[in-house]
Amino acid sequence: MKIKEFAVERYFAQYEFTAKYLLSSSDCDGYPMEFVLNLASAEEKERWNNLKLGYTETRGSLELREAIQQHYRTIELDEIIVSSPGEANFILMNVVLSKGDHVICMAPMYQSLYEIAKSLETDISFWEPDQQQQDWYYDPAGLEKLIRPETKLTIVNFPHNPTGFSPSRVDYQRIIEIARKHNLILFSDEMYRFLDHNPKETLDSACDLYENAVSLWGTAKTFGLAGLRLGWLTSKNKEILQKVENFKDYLSICNSATSEVLATIALNHMDKFVQPNLQKIRRNLELFSEFHQQNKDLFDFSKPVTGSTAFIKLKIKGTALDFAEKLVKETGIMLLPAETFEYGDKHARIGFGRENFPEVLEIFGNYLASAAH
Ligand SMILES: Cc1ncc(COP(=O)(O)O)c(C=O)c1O
Repeated sequence: MKIKEFAVERYFAQYEFTAKYLLSSSDCDGYPMEFVLNLASAEEKERWNNLKLGYTETRGSLELREAIQQHYRTIELDEIIVSSPGEANFILMNVVLSKGDHVICMAPMYQSLYEIAKSLETDISFWEPDQQQQDWYYDPAGLEKLIRPETKLTIVNFPHNPTGFSPSRVDYQRIIEIARKHNLILFSDEMYRFLDHNPKETLDSACDLYENAVSLWGTAKTFGLAGLRLGWLTSKNKEILQKVENFKDYLSICNSATSEVLATIALNHMDKFVQPNLQKIRRNLELFSEFHQQNKDLFDFSKPVTGSTAFIKLKIKGTALDFAEKLVKETGIMLLPAETFEYGDKHARIGFGRENFPEVLEIFGNYLASAAH
């Protein structure tokens, strides 16, 4: 198998643990272990203290799957398989796709969501945002136009990284109906689920709405628990999930026992994680909106409605990559350039999930004011 480097992750590898400030992270600050364990019920604490560090169930422990199940409307325990999100994505593509299949995915998009499909010698079409709209908008009609007789899979990601786009309920239903009408498997990456800035706008998981949808969610973004390295696929299509389980025997076989217990506690106390994250995102977003008002000549900004990121357009002569490289060298601020999303060279991602955002924004503002770009 030949696969291209994962540009976003390579860029993070370069700077995430060396740059002084991060302005582009998509996850919220990681919660301390103590915070998680202090929330545990007596039963959960006992499970943690008596945990045996042997192999675990391939699909995830019963307690974890029960904790996951409560956040879906129709999903049964045997319609869940726990895995790291990257592994889940890798396996799903491998069991669903064959050479020559046609796949549709959004652009820009988290690279592994299309790169693995590409490495399996499939043909990829990108569902692009509507350029006529001022804000980010993905028109379901544009998606339908891309469908061919050999289209097998459509990959969507709502809340969307990096733009913060989420469809209206009407458009979401249209996307589901398009998939159903053309008998497509719908892979719905919901890693940023419940991070809607207005919680009334939270969409149902695709797996609750369509029998051939496979949804992906995990602990990294919604919960601020990226270090657990846990996610899960949920689907009414049991045949696909069985194939995923079989393939997993060749990779991790099963999940980290400690992560499973901690994730179970988190899922059973979701609001305790999500509410502080949302408060932080809302506060930082307000600050950034004001910052944009003062710097409209330097970049375009479409305020996201969901998730923890935005994708701004820099009004610069050079490339976003050069701009980001100069910025990190001169200020220690890491900014993720559009090139890492293979989406031109003028955009950059902003992440709103970090406590020190106001401080980093001030340094960024001073830099912009003093530098002639
Ligand atoms: C859309 C999307 N899907 C999947 C992932 C992978 O999640 P994790 O870091 O928990 O493996 C990410 C991480 O940034 C993401 O943005």
